[in-house]
Amino acid sequence: MEMQRVWAVYFSGTGTTEKVVTRMAKIAAEDLGAEYKTFCFNLPKDREGELSFGPGDLVIFGTPVYAGRVPNLLLPYIRDKVKGNGALAVPVSLFGNRNFDDGLIELRNVLEADGFHTVAGGAFVGEHSFSRTLGAGRPDAQDMALVEELAHKTAEKVKGLERAPEIPAYVAGCAPIRPYYTPRDRHGEPIKDFLKAKPVTDSDKCVKCGLCARLCPMAAIDPNDVSSVVGKCIKCCACVKKCPKGAKYFDHEGYLYHQHELEELYARRADSEIFIEM
Ligand SMILES: Cc1cc2nc3c(=O)[nH]c(=O)nc-3n(C[C@H](O)[C@H](O)[C@H](O)COP(=O)(O)O)c2cc1C
Ligand code: SF4
Ligand code: SF4
Repeated sequence: MEMQRVWAVYFSGTGTTEKVVTRMAKIAAEDLGAEYKTFCFNLPKDREGELSFGPGDLVIFGTPVYAGRVPNLLLPYIRDKVKGNGALAVPVSLFGNRNFDDGLIELRNVLEADGFHTVAGGAFVGEHSFSRTLGAGRPDAQDMALVEELAHKTAEKVKGLERAPEIPAYVAGCAPIRPYYTPRDRHGEPIKDFLKAKPVTDSDKCVKCGLCARLCPMAAIDPNDVSSVVGKCIKCCACVKKCPKGAKYFDHEGYLYHQHELEELYARRADSEIFIEM
């Protein structure tokens, strides 16, 4: 099949999904002699309109894994406003060295339901949003070599296709999809008020540049008082990791317990994985 455009479409709080999806789309576009285009749906304004594709488009579509799934507050956008109209797609998940559980298969299923034909898939390790040590520096050179391999193989597969495949690409994960992963305390009980945790601001370090408020994917930070998180926080950590002064952090007891537990339990190197049948 001939492709006119290869798209990098992604949500990426701390930049790891962006790094993988843009690299993969650029390489596939080169291999296919197609135009390279990007669309980032981090900000609420970018999720207002419909995003439509069609035959001639190959869409590398990436989200991070949150609680073993596609981030639940992004699902309405991906499900209701993104239209495949017969385009080809590759679902891509970034996970923080614990596990991608059903994040990739859920993304594949949603894209298929949106009218895409999935041709491959990939789950890659990124530094965990909550941590500077868990998956530190990932995706690294080894991960990016796998990204490049998947890009080349996808382009080769697409070139050889006579028509869009009717059967969804195989990716790891369970059917039916499992419930969201629940952070638990030392007694095995769900961590109290985990979902309510919000970042706080070190007023000695903050220079009130307003960047965190402009970057917040939920528009949750008050631009007139950046220490105030007035909206729903999905704990994407964009504000924490992108604050130029290191002024944002979480002090919520349950959040910190979960962070440290993850850092201890999942210190081993998890593997990135690609899924493509030629
Ligand atoms: C709320 C939340 C939940 C997460 N849940 C998981 C998880 O279940 N498994 C995992 O390995 N990483 C998990 N992560 C880590 C992210 O998937 C990982 O850091 C990813 O690389 C972030 O992508 P980004 O840099 O594009 O934002 C979670 C991160 C957040 C913010
Ligand atoms: S990005 Fe950092 S320094 Fe800038 S307003 Fe936000 S907390 Fe303050
Ligand atoms: S306030 Fe919450 S949702 Fe907004 S950028 Fe910070 S961590 Fe992400």
